[in-house]
Amino acid sequence: MIEKEIKPIQAKEMVRISTIIYYYSATGNSLYAARELQKALPGAELRSIATALQKGELSVRAECVGFVFPMHYFGLPLQVEEFLQKLTIQDSPYLFAVATCGVPYWGKPFLEMDAVLADKGQKLQGSWYLRLVSNYIPYRDIAAAWRIAIRAWLARRKLNRIAAAIKQRKDHTTWQLLQKFCERYHSKWKNNQRQIDETFQCNPEKCTSCGLCEQICPRGNILRPEGQPVWQHNCVECLGCLHICPSKAIDYGEITKGRQRYRHKTVQIADLLSKRG
Ligand SMILES: Cc1cc2nc3c(=O)[nH]c(=O)nc-3n(C[C@H](O)[C@H](O)[C@H](O)COP(=O)(O)O)c2cc1C
Ligand code: SF4
Ligand code: SF4
Repeated sequence: MIEKEIKPIQAKEMVRISTIIYYYSATGNSLYAARELQKALPGAELRSIATALQKGELSVRAECVGFVFPMHYFGLPLQVEEFLQKLTIQDSPYLFAVATCGVPYWGKPFLEMDAVLADKGQKLQGSWYLRLVSNYIPYRDIAAAWRIAIRAWLARRKLNRIAAAIKQRKDHTTWQLLQKFCERYHSKWKNNQRQIDETFQCNPEKCTSCGLCEQICPRGNILRPEGQPVWQHNCVECLGCLHICPSKAIDYGEITKGRQRYRHKTVQIADLLSKRG
């Protein structure tokens, strides 16, 4: 008789780790980082901030709640700030945040978060910058491929360290330099919000009316009455529309003409869309 092999019973975790990771991402860097953390944290669930805002899903209960987003003008993206203000955080979870960026440490996104969370009686316990590629092409072109590869390698190592710290519920703070300068810069940008998209232009000769710019916009700020995008002056400058356009028909004035467009190599176009076509 052939005896069946008796497999040892796997020891189950005594405590189920319950983690929710909120992400906000226009070109995939933050989605990539959120996914890597999800893989490293058993049972973690990913939620899109743009979708949660659209659907009004504004309450969370978990042992651990994380926020992964890009740094915008040395601070929080406008929709991430809006989301944090509206979010009800139940109980007292371990709260962490990861700000993806091109240049770390120059900024104050975590201080801004702390201010919003303090009003809710909550506190950020872990905060990290994650250097990837700057998608802010009105300032400068996308980094060279070798630079992107080195940053990707370093980012993978840092994500492992971040995940380990989150699992152990460690306190972690990070440098936030030039706070007054960053505050002035960020406030000026925020107060100019209604004019942000006046700089965008669409080249009708390049536009194929594919609709991706409209579908990616987390703000519903693009209408296409005649096929091409018309911006509605309610932009948060995520630059999703500019980077996703397959025919490079969208530009930020003259300055982005001839510059590269960017999407994190592990992220598909469909993963970034707010609205399906
Ligand atoms: C409007 C805007 C402002 C930005 N400001 C900064 C900044 O102050 N510092 C920085 O390092 N990167 C800045 N960036 C670059 C992004 O933070 C960076 O590319 C981020 O990883 C993009 O994440 P995503 O791909 O998830 O959208 C900015 C990008 C945008 C669109
Ligand atoms: S993504 Fe580009 S090609 Fe497609 S509709 Fe928008 S501007 Fe036109
Ligand atoms: S219009 Fe473009 S840059 Fe502005 S919020 Fe929408 S996708 Fe982002």
